[in-house]
Amino acid sequence: MIAGLLLCTTLGAQARKKDIPVYRDASRPVEERVEDLLARMTLEEKVMQLNQYTLGRNDNANNMADPVNDLPAELGSVIYFSMSAELRNYVQKRVMERSRLGIPMVFGHDVIHGFRTVYPISLAQACSWNPELVRQAAEVAAQESRMSGVDWTFSPMIDVARDPRWGRVSEGYGEDPYANAVFCAATVKGYQGDDLADGRRMAACLKHFAGYGASEAGRDYVYTEISRQTLWDTYLPPYQAGIEAGAVTVMSCFNNISGTPGSADPYLLTEVLKKRWAHDGFVVSDWGAIEQLRAQGVAADKKQAADRAFNAGLDMDMMNRCYDAHLADLVREGVVPQERLDDAVRRVLRLKFRLGLFENPYTPESSEEERFLLPGSLRIAEQLAEETMVLLKNEGVLPLREAKKIAVIGPIAKERWHLLGAWASKGRTEEVESVFMGLEKEFGERAELLYARGCDFDGEDRAGFAEALAAATAADVTVLCLGEKRNWSGENASRSTIALPEIQQRLAEVVSKSGKPVVLVLSSGRPLDVSRLEPLSDAIVQMWQPGIRGGRPLAGILAGRINPSGRLAITFPRSTGQIPIYYCRRPSARPHQGKYQELSSEPLYEFGYGLSYTTYDYGELKAETASIERGKKLTVTIPVTNSGAMDGAETVLWYVSDPVCRIARPVKELKHFEKRMLRSGETHTFSFEIDPERDLSFVDGDGNRFLEAGDYYVIVKDRKLKLTLAE
Ligand code: GLC
Repeated sequence: MIAGLLLCTTLGAQARKKDIPVYRDASRPVEERVEDLLARMTLEEKVMQLNQYTLGRNDNANNMADPVNDLPAELGSVIYFSMSAELRNYVQKRVMERSRLGIPMVFGHDVIHGFRTVYPISLAQACSWNPELVRQAAEVAAQESRMSGVDWTFSPMIDVARDPRWGRVSEGYGEDPYANAVFCAATVKGYQGDDLADGRRMAACLKHFAGYGASEAGRDYVYTEISRQTLWDTYLPPYQAGIEAGAVTVMSCFNNISGTPGSADPYLLTEVLKKRWAHDGFVVSDWGAIEQLRAQGVAADKKQAADRAFNAGLDMDMMNRCYDAHLADLVREGVVPQERLDDAVRRVLRLKFRLGLFENPYTPESSEEERFLLPGSLRIAEQLAEETMVLLKNEGVLPLREAKKIAVIGPIAKERWHLLGAWASKGRTEEVESVFMGLEKEFGERAELLYARGCDFDGEDRAGFAEALAAATAADVTVLCLGEKRNWSGENASRSTIALPEIQQRLAEVVSKSGKPVVLVLSSGRPLDVSRLEPLSDAIVQMWQPGIRGGRPLAGILAGRINPSGRLAITFPRSTGQIPIYYCRRPSARPHQGKYQELSSEPLYEFGYGLSYTTYDYGELKAETASIERGKKLTVTIPVTNSGAMDGAETVLWYVSDPVCRIARPVKELKHFEKRMLRSGETHTFSFEIDPERDLSFVDGDGNRFLEAGDYYVIVKDRKLKLTLAE
C-alpha cells in the first residue's frame, strides 16, 4: 500500500516537474537553467537584463540623475537605498509580475565598510593586519545588508593608491599590492561565504577595474598613465586575488588608462578578466562610466558609447541609459554580435540563480533589532577599531596613568558624524561613540575631563582659542583631537594639500603654549602631513575614521588598557610635495643622489610603521637552506621576543627583493605577514613558507610570470637573508 502511495507521489512529482520549465527547477544545474531561460528570452528582454537603474534618487551626491520612480519589466538590477525588506519585496513583486518570464531583479548598494554597524574605513582596516577580523566584519555587513534587501554590494574597493591627495585612498587597502590582495580575498569571503543563496550572504564586486588609484595629481575621474608592466605588477594583483577568492562581479573604472578608458578597454574587460582569468561573472559599469566615454573623447554619442563599452566586455549599464536605449539596435545592425549579447545575459542570469533569487526573490521581513548593532557585531567593531589605530609618536606621555585632569580639545573631540568616514551606508550619528564619550567611559571617576572645541575644522574663527588654552593650562595633559570632515575624502574629494587647515595648526600652537604634554589624536580618511604638528605633540595617535565604535578603543589606548598594534598600510609623507612616495618603489639610477634640496626625501612615517607600549626584539633570520629549488617550498624563520612589560600583538612583515632581474623590480615587495599576540617575555618563532613560483617570481607586461635564477633576499625589518636559485 505504502509502496504504491510512494510510487504515485513520485510519479506525480515527476509529472509536475515535467510541467515546470527547466529554469524554474531548482534541482537542475545552474548552467542548464541559464541556457533554458536564455533560449526563451526575446532580444528586448535580454537587453533589459543588462541595465541597472536607481530606485528613487541616488544617495551618492556625485551621481546626478533624475529619480526613477517606475521600474520597467525585465530590469536586471536596481541600486537600492532603503533598509526596508518590505519595500524591496513590493518593488520586486511588481517587476516580476510584469516580467513575462518572471525574472527577479538583483538589488545592489555601496556597502563599503559596514551597513548599519559601520566599521573603520578600509584604509584603516588594512592597518590592523588582521584579515580574519576584516572577514568577520564583512560577514556582518553581508548579513545586515541581505536582511535589509541588498543582495549585492559594490565592494571591496581594491585600488592600490599612493597619492593621498586622492580622496578615494580611504576606500582601499593602501599602497601595497599584496596587502590589497589579502584584504580583498578576506572581504570577498566574508561577503559571499560558501553559498550565495544563503540569506545572510551577498555578492561582492571588485572595483574599480583597474588602476583608478593612479589618478593624475590625486584628482578624481582623470587620466592615469599606467604601463602594461605596472598594470600587471602593481594594479592587477588584488583583482586576480579577488577573482581567485570567488568574487562574482567586477565594476569598471572611470579612468582613462594610457589612452583607453577602462570602461571601454577590451584588454582589461575581456582578454584579462574573462579569458586569462576565466571569470564567469559579469562587469557592471561605474555610474555613468559608459556615457562618460563621450566626455573622454572616445564616443560621439551614447549609441557609440554603448557599442564601445559593450563590445569591450562591459556587461551591465549602471544608470547610463545607454544600453536600454541602443543595445537592441546595435544587435539588429550587427554591430554587437548576438553571441556577445547572450554571453552578457548568461553572466547576469548565472548570478541570479546562484543568489537563489528565483526560489527566494523576496527578503524575509525582520525587525531592526534582529538585524543591526548585534552584540557580536559591536564587539567586532570595537576590536577592529582598536587594531587599526596607529601610535605614531610617544615620548613618555602615554599611557595616561597619573592624569587627574585631562583637557579634551579640538573639532574631533566630541565629533560623531565625521568619524563614520566616506561611504558610511546606513550609519547613524547617534550610534557613533565620540572620543569624548570614550574617554568618559574609560577614565570615569579617575580623571576630570575639561572640554573645549577650540575651533572648527576650517575657517578663520579663533574665538575658541582662549578657552582651549585655559583648559590645557588647567589640565595635567591635553588630548588634542584634530582631523578631517568625512566628505574631505571618498569620491570626488581630492585635496591639493594633505596638511590640515591652518586654523587647526594654529589651535595646536596655542595649546602648546600651556606648557603641558599634548597627545595629538588624528581622524582622517588619508595620510596627513603632520610635519608641523609633530614638534608640538608629545604623542600622536592616528585614529583614522573608526566608524561607530572608535571612542572607547582610542581611550583604551590612551589609558594603557589596550596596547596599540596598528601598523601603517600607507606611507605618511613629510609634505604634499613628496607625493608619490611609497616603499615598494623601483630602484633609482643614483640611490644616493637626486634628493630634494630643501627637505628630506624620506617619509615622515614609513609603510609598516607603528609603535607599541612594549618592545619587540627580533632575532636572526634563518632558512633551512640557502639554496632554492624550483617547485620546492622553503621555510624561513625569525624569533621575536616581547621584551617589554606589557602584552602586545606584533605584526611581522616579510618582504622579498630580487636586486638583479631582467625587469627592474621594486626595492622590496611584501609577500607575507603574520600578526600574533605575544605575552610579556614570550618568544615566538614566526615563519614564512616560501613558494618560489608564488613569492619570488615576477610578472612581465604581458602578464606572464617568470622565475629567474639568481640571488634573492628575504627581508624582515633590517634583517636580510640571501637565498640563491640555481639555473
Ligand atoms: C560611484 C562610485 C562607485 C559606486 C557607484 C555607485 O560613482 O565611483 O564606487 O559603487 O558610483 O554608487
